Amino acid sequence: MPRNVTQKIIAAHLVRGSLEPGSPIALRIDQTLTQDATGTMAYLQFEALKLPRVRTELSVSYVDHNMLQSGFENADDHRFLQSFAAKYGIHFSRPGNGICHQVHLERFSRPGKTLLGSDSHTPTSGGAGMLAIGAGGLDIALAMGGLPFNLKMPAVVGVRLSGRLQPFVSAKDIILEVLRRKTVKGGVGKVFEYFGPGVASLNVPARSTITNMGAELGATTSIFPSDAVTREYLAAQGRESDWVELLPDDGASYDEILEIDLDALEPLIACPHSPDNVKTVREVAGTPVAQVAIGSCTNSSYTDLMTVATMLDGRVVAEGVSLGISPGSRQVMEMVTRDGGLLKFIAAGARILESACGPCIGMGFAPPSGGVSVRSFNRNFQGRSGTKDAAVYLASPETCAACALTGVITDPRDLGMPAISVPLPGQFLVDDRMIVPPAADGAKVEILRGPNIAPLPEGSPPPERIEGPVLIRLGDDVTTDHIMPAGAKVLPLRSNLPAISQFVFHAVDADFAERAKRLGGGFIVAGQNYGQGSSREHAALAPRYLGVRAVLVQSFARIHLANLINFGILPLTFVHPEDYEKVQVGDTLSLDIRGLALGQTLTVQDRSRGLEFAVLPQLGSERDLELIRSGGALSWASQMLEK
Ligand code: F3S
Repeated sequence: MPRNVTQKIIAAHLVRGSLEPGSPIALRIDQTLTQDATGTMAYLQFEALKLPRVRTELSVSYVDHNMLQSGFENADDHRFLQSFAAKYGIHFSRPGNGICHQVHLERFSRPGKTLLGSDSHTPTSGGAGMLAIGAGGLDIALAMGGLPFNLKMPAVVGVRLSGRLQPFVSAKDIILEVLRRKTVKGGVGKVFEYFGPGVASLNVPARSTITNMGAELGATTSIFPSDAVTREYLAAQGRESDWVELLPDDGASYDEILEIDLDALEPLIACPHSPDNVKTVREVAGTPVAQVAIGSCTNSSYTDLMTVATMLDGRVVAEGVSLGISPGSRQVMEMVTRDGGLLKFIAAGARILESACGPCIGMGFAPPSGGVSVRSFNRNFQGRSGTKDAAVYLASPETCAACALTGVITDPRDLGMPAISVPLPGQFLVDDRMIVPPAADGAKVEILRGPNIAPLPEGSPPPERIEGPVLIRLGDDVTTDHIMPAGAKVLPLRSNLPAISQFVFHAVDADFAERAKRLGGGFIVAGQNYGQGSSREHAALAPRYLGVRAVLVQSFARIHLANLINFGILPLTFVHPEDYEKVQVGDTLSLDIRGLALGQTLTVQDRSRGLEFAVLPQLGSERDLELIRSGGALSWASQMLEK
C-alpha cells in the first residue's frame, strides 16, 4: 500500500502497534535533544534509571533558555549539564552556540530519523525530513534509556502547496495561514505533512519555520519530504552523507487535505493573545508599535536575518521603537557578521541580543507597559513576554522589519522596496568546536552539582480513594505558562522543585501553592484544552509536588496530558461537559479508583452537597494505566529496567 512520509518513518520505527490512526503505538527513538530549562530535570530523571550511558544513536544537550546570570543558579546549572553530558555519552552545545532547534537543524538533523526533544518546538527539524516530536523531559529520559516513546498513531493531514510565494511574503505567512484555518486546537492527534509542487520552492530553513510553528496547532509534529532541496542544504552544512531521499509514494493518501495557493498568500499577523488570531497585516496596519523583536527558533536563520539586514540597510529604526535582534545560532551570527548584515543592524540602531531564546521566554527585552511588540516568534500568550499588559503580535521577519522602520504595523509590500531574494549559501560556515563530545570514559567524570540541583522526590502509588478539595477552577485554554510560569524569576530554579512549586498558578491565584500544601493537595478543575502551549513538564511535576493527584477538565492538550500521567496525576474529563458548571472551589471530591480500567467511567462525589457525576480517566493504553498505578513513569521505568 502506498505510504506518505509520516507513515514510512513510523513504520520503520514501530516497536508496538499499527498504523491505524488513534491506536496506541511505541516508537524507537534515534536522537534526543534537551535544552537547559527542561534538561536539568530530564537528566536527574535519567540518572534515576541508573544506566552508565545513553542508549540512543545521538543525544544533545543545549543551553539556550536560562542565559541571564544575575545569580549563581544558571551558571551552576550549565556546569551540571556539561559534566553530566560528558559522563553519560551526550553531546553538549555550549552556551553561546545558539538556540537548540536552529543548531540541531544545522548540525544534527537527519532525514528519516526520529527525534524526541524536551521542547515543544522540536518539530523544527521536520523541515529536514525528520519525524521530530516534542515531549516532556521524562519521556526524553526514558528514550535516552533506550525505551520507546508511546503515543497514539496520529492522523496525517496533507498540506498541498501550489504556486510560489510573492515578494515580501514568506514561510511564516504559510504557517499563519494554516493556524488561521485550523486554530490552536486543530492539530491535536495529527501530523501535518507538506507536499505538492510548491514544496520545491521553499528552502530547508523556510520549511523549518513552518514545522516549528506547527507546534502552535497542537500537532504531534509537522514534516516536509527529503528531496533535492534537503540534499542541497545538508551538503552546504558539510553533511551530504546524512541525506536520504524520502518522498511520499505515488498514490499515497492523507486523512485530510488542506490546499494552500502560495501565489494568493499575503503578509499575515497573529494578533494578541493567541497564535491563531490571524489577520492580514493590512487589516491592522497603522497600529503604533513600541518594540520589534526578530529571532527565536522560528525565524532566525541566515536567510531571515540577511533579508532583514537588506531592508534596514541605510535606514534607521523609527523613533519610539526598540528593535532587538537575536541570531538563531553562532553559525548564523558569524555568517551574518561576515556578510555585512551585522553592520547594517548596528547602523540602523538595532539592539543585538545573544544567540539564544531571550525575549521569547521573557528573559530580558520585555516590552513597555501596555505597549505593542511585533515579533518574528511563535507564541504571544498574555504575559509570556514578561509584560502582562503588553500586546504581542507575531509576523514574518519582513513584516517585523517594516514595523521597525515605520513605527506602526506595516505591510512590507507597502514600503515600496524592490523585491529581496537572499539565496541559501552554497557552503555554511561550519565550526563545531562549541559542541563538546562526551568523554570516552564516563566513569571518570565527576558531576558538578550546585545548590540549585535538588534531589528528586520519590514517586508513590496513589491511594485507593483520591479525596480532596477543589483547589482551583479555571476556564478554557489554560496554558502551561498559567500553570507554571517561566520568566526571569522562575527559570533559574528549574530543578529545584521545592522553590519552583511556589509559583504554580501564581499569576491567576497567588495563594494556590500555600493552600495546596496546607490542604495536602486536591483537584484542579478546568474547561477545554487544558495545558496547551508547551511541553513544560514542571506544569505537571510541580502540582504533583504540592499534592495534586487528579486534574478534572473538559479536554486536555496532548503533551500536557502525557506529562500528567508521567508524574502520576490522574487526568479526568467530564463525561457530560456541562457537569463542569456544578463544581465549585472548596467542594470536597472523592473518587474511588480501585476499579481503574481503560475506557471505564468512574463516579466523583461530594457527599456534603449531594453532588455526583461521571468522569472518564484519559488513559490511552495499558502502559498509561501502569504508570498511574506505579505513581508515575520513573518508578515504573526503574522497575522495568531492573527486570
Ligand atoms: Fe526558545 Fe522561544 Fe523557541 S523559548 S526554543 S526561541 S519558542
